[in-house]
Amino acid sequence: MAAGIPETQPVETMTPEAAAVEIADLAARVAEANEDYHGRDRPTISDAAYDAMKARLGALEQAFPDLAPVDSPTGKVGAAPAEGFGKVVHAQRMMSLGNAFSEEDVGDFITRIRSFLGLAPDQPLSLTAEPKIDGLSLSLRYEDGVLIQAATRGDGAVGENVTANARTIGDIPQTLPPGAPAILEVRGEVYMSHDDFAALNAEGAARVFANPRNAAAGSLRQIDPAVTARRPLRFFAYGWGELSQPLAGTQMEAVQRLAALGFVTNPLTRLCEDAQGLIAVWREIEQQRATLGYDIDGVVYKVDDLALQARLGFRSTTPRWALAHKFPAETAWTRLERIEIQVGRTGALSPVARLEPVTVGGVVVSNATLHNEDYIAGRDNTGAPIREGRDIREGDWVQVYRAGDVIPKIADVDLSRRRSDAPYVFPTQCPECGSDAIREPGDSVRRCTGGLICPAQAVEKLKHFVSRAAFDIDGLGAKQIEMFFADDQLPIREPADIFTLAARDGANLTKLKNRDGFGERSAEKLFAAIEERRRIPLARLIFALGIRHVGEVASATLARHFHDWSALVAAIDGAAAEPAFTAPDDKARRASLPDSPNWAELTGIDGIGAVLVASLVTTFAQPTERASIDRLAGMLEILPAQDRGGAQTEISGKTLVFTGTLERMTRAEAKARAEAMGAKVAGSVSAKTDVLIAGPGAGSKAAKAEALGVTVIDEDEWLRIAGAG
Ligand code: IVH
Repeated sequence: MAAGIPETQPVETMTPEAAAVEIADLAARVAEANEDYHGRDRPTISDAAYDAMKARLGALEQAFPDLAPVDSPTGKVGAAPAEGFGKVVHAQRMMSLGNAFSEEDVGDFITRIRSFLGLAPDQPLSLTAEPKIDGLSLSLRYEDGVLIQAATRGDGAVGENVTANARTIGDIPQTLPPGAPAILEVRGEVYMSHDDFAALNAEGAARVFANPRNAAAGSLRQIDPAVTARRPLRFFAYGWGELSQPLAGTQMEAVQRLAALGFVTNPLTRLCEDAQGLIAVWREIEQQRATLGYDIDGVVYKVDDLALQARLGFRSTTPRWALAHKFPAETAWTRLERIEIQVGRTGALSPVARLEPVTVGGVVVSNATLHNEDYIAGRDNTGAPIREGRDIREGDWVQVYRAGDVIPKIADVDLSRRRSDAPYVFPTQCPECGSDAIREPGDSVRRCTGGLICPAQAVEKLKHFVSRAAFDIDGLGAKQIEMFFADDQLPIREPADIFTLAARDGANLTKLKNRDGFGERSAEKLFAAIEERRRIPLARLIFALGIRHVGEVASATLARHFHDWSALVAAIDGAAAEPAFTAPDDKARRASLPDSPNWAELTGIDGIGAVLVASLVTTFAQPTERASIDRLAGMLEILPAQDRGGAQTEISGKTLVFTGTLERMTRAEAKARAEAMGAKVAGSVSAKTDVLIAGPGAGSKAAKAEALGVTVIDEDEWLRIAGAG
């Protein structure tokens, strides 16, 4: 150990109390040494002792980010920043919002809510309307009136711990007045005003940001809180997460309560009674957009009554009780330099427009999607003309637009400036592997038939495999995948290769740690991050396989249904042997054979359609793909699916069927409620049904249930189970 600091305890074994004492001591000593060196120009300790002290302080601050002083000298002297932020598991998921782009969408939103809740036409339904701030969301946790944690949204379930940075934002109270709930998570948006953004860019202290939103995100996610403190960030509170007691009975009053507790809330929030009222507020706010002094990208509508919000609940990632009504897209004209074809993980050939860079709504755009060959040719997928049939050619002047976060698109083409007389010819061979690229009848997309032999498909599959909602391996992102895919000494060509990486590196003469871009620490960290993911929840594994049509929601549904990997594989293999799969069009053969229990079980799962099942079964039946999946599964510990929400209810894991009329709850609400309580809802009665809820008018289903010995209950009993009786 270098002179100047005593023998130190390993950071991992330290208590926060001991760390706080040592951090304060080291921070003071490093600051003093800085002052001696830079300010007074007379160094008092050796460089080695100084470096050791600073490294130790950095390590402690990284392990205990909450304890890092706002003005820590590790930041002031440009010390190597801590690598990333700690993770925070949100006590309640941070959701995103469903979008509306037209008045019709707003009307549909109100109709959906009314129908879900079973409201009669004369029953009122109030909603709030407020600006949608174009910043980044932040969750602030207060315990006993003291701010103890601030976290970004992340993937909604897990965010980044930015507590030290959030403490530097003036709009965020550090303590709350008496009377605040003992546990209170306040949610809102961090943003930067137009004036502050312009001043920051003019100052030249930071890199130039494209827009206030990027500037806010870049400033909040500074490793050094001293930098964040110098950035003019602001915060609007608009919601909440975990609460030890309710804030109020309505959205409007709850936000007023937040204002009374010291938060800044948006003054343009209004209460409306119907779709017309919401649209009137949307127009008013849109007119003020340019003069507000901060970026907004739409208006958010929320059901005002919090009891109704609770009944409406959530879809997989968005609440049923809220909607973001976006402002129209912004557009600009530019030249399309050339059309490139990208090959995706399912083999889809996607045309991309490479553009002369142009600013659209404050963001520089140089690429836009062209969707598919029909879109380029000026047709939709039914063959009907789009852009009045105008096709798109290389060299054309095109109109680019972007709405919100979506990928830029091409809206139109200016024929008066066209120079080329050759229409674009879409390739019929994969530009990556040369295999035929074919278009199945009814499919709007042309696909490479190369499968895993196509390097583009293989690498895209791997990128998907390591992506956030899949294996999410720290230090193994798209860039590293491309590097390892092209590597001859330590290649990753399929997912299983990831889990043999450390062992193969051990056996190699040239080690990863000696390569460019890697060091001892980063190589070790990568191997540790991979090792950590050897235990993987079933739903993540299914999603990670990247099978066409099998998205995140379907993966979670399959995992909940089958519970463990072997049961899922058995059902898929069983289905592959059945006539529904081997002879889907041979009605006579299907009729002559008994039921297809596996196929029927798969397609009978609510939310899992025949197209998805066919894709799943085909993939598992393809020998190369299957061998790759089996190799991978053999290296993992696959964690069986948990019931949603964790808490066990009396219907967790059971299969329910509703029949007849429910009089006090709509079918949609009953289904959502049952699923939220961990049950599955099926459309028809079978030997797998556990409970039939029979309202008045129940017919053949009730008779079938009785014949099968299934428990039959009435609506009163259902309302008791659902906690709504
Ligand atoms: S409410 C469960 N209100 O928009 C509902 N969100 O597109 C949670 N946002 O992630 C969101 N202004 O970051 C809400 N007034 C507002 C908002 C707002 C901006 C952001 C928020 C959210 C995103 C969804």
